Amino acid sequence: MIQKKIADMINDQINKELYSAYLYLDFANYYADEGLNGFAHWYEVQAQEERDHALMLRRYLIDNGVRVTFAQVAKPDKTFANHLAPLEAGYEHECYVTSLITAIYAEAFAAKDFKTMQFLDWFVKEQGEEEKNADDMIKKMQLFGSDAKGLYLLDQELAARVYAPSATGPAV
Ligand code: FEO
Repeated sequence: MIQKKIADMINDQINKELYSAYLYLDFANYYADEGLNGFAHWYEVQAQEERDHALMLRRYLIDNGVRVTFAQVAKPDKTFANHLAPLEAGYEHECYVTSLITAIYAEAFAAKDFKTMQFLDWFVKEQGEEEKNADDMIKKMQLFGSDAKGLYLLDQELAARVYAPSATGPAV
């Protein structure tokens, strides 16, 4: 049995992950419009991963007898001054998501809800990877993005990202 407060936080996190998917698709829209289809593809794949995160959280609640309820997904409202801006916004967003996962984890820890802690371990690790990926993107862009050839090659590199369903996600 999951405590109501923890179940509510996980339910909220479903919405946050769906918003993340929406946000990253918005980034993809921007890059596609700029002719950077590799960047757009990278964020389309990222959006798929975020949707997977939402589904994993949903499944965990369902499998633990919790009635899941959906809230409205917010409209992404960012405007971008340059090609670096979405990458910086992405890093900032991932740090925010990490803080949300950490808050749920802390609540589970306080409640000695070891099952939820074990479930969340995957997300804690994933957030570490997502922050690093976002930071790496910024560094690469700062190093190579101001040169047309460098930007072209970076776009090619990002076009190669392959979506892998989160089968490696937590067992629920
Ligand atoms: Fe689902 Fe990017 O955090």
